[in-house]
Amino acid sequence: MAKHTLAKNIDKHLNETITLKGWVYNIRKSGKIWFLIFRDGTEFIQCVILKNEVSPEVFKLKTTLTQESSITVTGVVQEAPSQKFGYEILVKNIEVIQIAEEYPISLKEHGIEFLLDNRHLWLRSKLPNAILKIRHEVSKASRKFFDERDFTLIDSPMFTPNASEGTTTLFKTKYFDQEAYLTQSGQLYSEAAIMGFNKTYCFGPIFRAEKSKTRRHLTEFWMIEPEMAFYDINDNMELAEEYVSYIIQQVLENRRKELEILKRDVTILEKIKPPFPRITYDEAVKILQKNGRNFKWGDDFGAPDETLITKEFDKPIFIHRWPAETKPFYMKRDKNDDKYVLGMDMIAPEGHGEIIGGSQREDDLDLLLERIKKENLSEKMYNWYIDLRRYGSVPHSGFGLGLERTIGWICGIKHIREAIPWPRTIVRLSP
Ligand code: 4AD
Ligand code: MG
Repeated sequence: MAKHTLAKNIDKHLNETITLKGWVYNIRKSGKIWFLIFRDGTEFIQCVILKNEVSPEVFKLKTTLTQESSITVTGVVQEAPSQKFGYEILVKNIEVIQIAEEYPISLKEHGIEFLLDNRHLWLRSKLPNAILKIRHEVSKASRKFFDERDFTLIDSPMFTPNASEGTTTLFKTKYFDQEAYLTQSGQLYSEAAIMGFNKTYCFGPIFRAEKSKTRRHLTEFWMIEPEMAFYDINDNMELAEEYVSYIIQQVLENRRKELEILKRDVTILEKIKPPFPRITYDEAVKILQKNGRNFKWGDDFGAPDETLITKEFDKPIFIHRWPAETKPFYMKRDKNDDKYVLGMDMIAPEGHGEIIGGSQREDDLDLLLERIKKENLSEKMYNWYIDLRRYGSVPHSGFGLGLERTIGWICGIKHIREAIPWPRTIVRLSP
């Protein structure tokens, strides 16, 4: 066990001498006293250096320590009501590990492209730190939610010969002497898995060659995808609203401090409890037309459409029963009108757009074969998937939640590239 204390835990050591290991965030000097703002990735702490409490060498460090120099600090924990964290360190000793070269990210504002080019350093700053801690919380809450409801984690492969979400966004790659794609969704594999496990989820990276440059699209993002045997579309929506409410409540409970750093208005998040409003695709189209938007029935909604539709609601909403042409081959036809499929999207409020896509799946062998033919997909490639309708087919449903879109909404950030540690977009592959 390390003998040093993490900065976030110093409140448990009031009036004790402790050792911290971390980095210099900032230095303020004034005569016989200077202040060092210390960070170790868990908290920012003010350290007070008084001339008569330390050796002359340590006192002189005020002129040689630079931003991001790595240090070991030993001192006494004191109460400091003026400090945000409520505690500070009266320094007894500082050991220098390394004096940092001039750090490119100063404490003033920088342009976003510069910060993204320096993502390897920018991760140390307050805002990325807060966002990625919330991401951690959302991942943890997601696993907890499904683990506690009898779901088994069954991971889907990343290399696959099948398209699931249309052929336009496939990343093709060589796979020895065959061609393969990077996965667009784990869903088709999860549909096989539930026949063995009843309820499953997969949680992993997803790859889509999104050629559009928008604030909602990454080429590599993470999706959590539950799939459930014997669930219809209504059961599916109920689970989705319960799940999203749960992760919001977990973030509110465990990450208040981070939401505060992000200046997030939490009153909106506090209202997120089931049930969520449900409207059909046709009703959504009516909202657009009522608001004077020129929208053609049968099209998919764009970002401005989604923003306009959700304006009337202060919770996420479901849009369900979509025209079959707008959705993938695997969605089940509505038995009341086969123009429609039993798809459902969840759209977040405040203009953050679609965070969930899901559906009841086509469980009829002949109808599925017909869809596969119509979409010119290779029957041979999908043979294993078609098998699932040959051997004990059952009604089933599932959905996928986009992790970064959800984090973007929870954190109230405009562009989802900040919701992932190492963003990949049409224009960015590094660092
Ligand atoms: O709506 P999508 O395409 O649904 C599926 O892939 C289903 N097979 C999931 C399932 O039923 N198991 O994607 C699901 C979610 C979207 O609602 C969105 O939140 C996110 O994934 N998403 C993206 N996030 C970031 N960048 C992109 N390019 C995204 N594309 C989809
Ligand atoms: Mg979708």
